Amino acid sequence: MKTLRRVRELREALEPLGGIGLVPTMGAFHDGHLSLFRAARTECETVVASLFLNPAQFAPEDLERYPRDEERDAALAQEAGVDFLFVPPVEELYPPGYGTWVEVDAGSVLEGAHRPGHFRGVATICLKLFNIVRPDRAYFGRKDAQQAALMGTLVRDLNLQLSLRVLPTVRDPDGLALSSRNRHLSSAERKAALTLPRALAAGALAETRGADAPTATRGVLAAEPLLEPDYVEVATFDGRRLLVAAVRVGKTRLIDNIPLEGEPA
Ligand code: PAJ
Repeated sequence: MKTLRRVRELREALEPLGGIGLVPTMGAFHDGHLSLFRAARTECETVVASLFLNPAQFAPEDLERYPRDEERDAALAQEAGVDFLFVPPVEELYPPGYGTWVEVDAGSVLEGAHRPGHFRGVATICLKLFNIVRPDRAYFGRKDAQQAALMGTLVRDLNLQLSLRVLPTVRDPDGLALSSRNRHLSSAERKAALTLPRALAAGALAETRGADAPTATRGVLAAEPLLEPDYVEVATFDGRRLLVAAVRVGKTRLIDNIPLEGEPA
């Protein structure tokens, strides 16, 4: 695996190569990231992963707290079959005078409503990465369901020539969705966080019994004093009905989702 930091270097390295798969990431790799690398390895001739903590999609205090460990990440990426790890410094992607932003309409609800500007940052960096790498396939996780749906809109609306692969959420054996942010949780918070997937499962079950899924989920969340829900909603992404939620546990914010019964395949 080669680690490259400059757009020009990466373009030169990829020029003669075909069948490119891109996995955009922000590092602090866990099995969720690795599942995307491995899928790309199976499906593509050339696997590129980007590791870039995109300041445009963060509130400043959140950016500071985000875990960073490039050396460990590089070893994990190599093991999972990544050919090129693109780790640009911030000025490489946002040089002085940078002034072009991509706004997707659907980016202002749910996560977007709670994190103003977040999806503008995500859409902008992903379009930049797509232009730099020119992948045949790009890989995203269903854990960030709204982000994945937004990518579908971006690709369609801007006529991008790539196919999107959206892969299932990888969880700890007890059900907590893997997230780079989980490492911030104390053991009491970790235990409380587990209420999130349980509450979503309770919501999905309630719907099969004719009850309102978000109401049932909110009820379970309310019983855990360490959790502060941001939202619990039913959302339709790419024709799939999902129960989506965001909660705060101390200073850490977690999101998760579960498909609802009766969603189209
Ligand atoms: P990051 O949080 O590093 O996630 C990179 C990719 O891994 C995303 O597509 C995300 O959905 C996926 N992922 C995260 N946790 C997962 C899990 N438990 N199971 C399966 N996939 C999981 O999402 C971002 O970075 C950024 O917004 C990015 C797209 C890189 C743009 O900056």
